[in-house]
Amino acid sequence: MGDEVWVLGATGRSGRVIASQLAGAQVPLVLVGRDPARLEQAREQTCGDQPGSVRTLATGSIALMAAEVQRQRPAVVVNTVGPFARTAVPLARACLAGSCYVDLANDVTAVSGLLGLREKAVAAGRTFITGAGFGVLATESVVVRLCQARPDARGYGSTRCPRWRSRPGRSGRRWPRPSWTGCPKADAATSTAGWCTPGSPGTSRT
Ligand SMILES: NC(=O)c1ccc[n+]([C@@H]2O[C@H](COP(=O)([O-])OP(=O)(O)OC[C@H]3O[C@@H](n4cnc5c(N)ncnc54)[C@H](OP(=O)(O)O)[C@@H]3O)[C@@H](O)[C@H]2O)c1
Repeated sequence: MGDEVWVLGATGRSGRVIASQLAGAQVPLVLVGRDPARLEQAREQTCGDQPGSVRTLATGSIALMAAEVQRQRPAVVVNTVGPFARTAVPLARACLAGSCYVDLANDVTAVSGLLGLREKAVAAGRTFITGAGFGVLATESVVVRLCQARPDARGYGSTRCPRWRSRPGRSGRRWPRPSWTGCPKADAATSTAGWCTPGSPGTSRT
């Protein structure tokens, strides 16, 4: 407890890599998952010849994981259990009791849900970080780099946005294909240039 870092989904690809790195840095670690046998395997892989240095915790569902987080209040919860649209908010809410939270979300629903907890996290004195994986972090880094030395966008409006439509191919089968459709009210970010430079082609100010 106290200074522990809990890795949720520790039996998965991301969870194992994160857990190994934390174990290598001598961070007090708890591997959390739903299958005791797979957790034991993950523990052996994570800490090699010092299995006693890492605790495991098997819980059957996201709701039970959240209940344990709320009860035991680890210092940090690393959530690697997707889909994050389903897991991020309940687990982060549980962290309001006394833990900081980080996840690998890469979809708008999950990230928006997490950002919606901002006021509560601030009031509780907790740090919540979402989108800490390649999907958001790396792509945003590229956008930040591209935007350097350019004026800040003051607003964004889209005049076109891509939609997936099913159209018949040569064989007669219907395949989903993107089509650019007039969509004046769309606020989807469809053009990187539109984020960076107000008034660039394909965008209009709102
Ligand atoms: N943002 C990014 O750039 C980025 C990068 C990598 C991954 N991701 C996302 O991160 C998530 C994990 O990726 P991964 O490659 O590590 O996946 P993975 O290898 O399939 O691991 C998923 C983990 O979540 C656990 N899990 C799945 N459903 C669960 C449930 N209902 N209750 C409790 N535990 C559950 C699995 O436990 P069991 O062993 O019991 O099945 C496993 O430990 C995915 O959603 C992926 O899209 C994002």
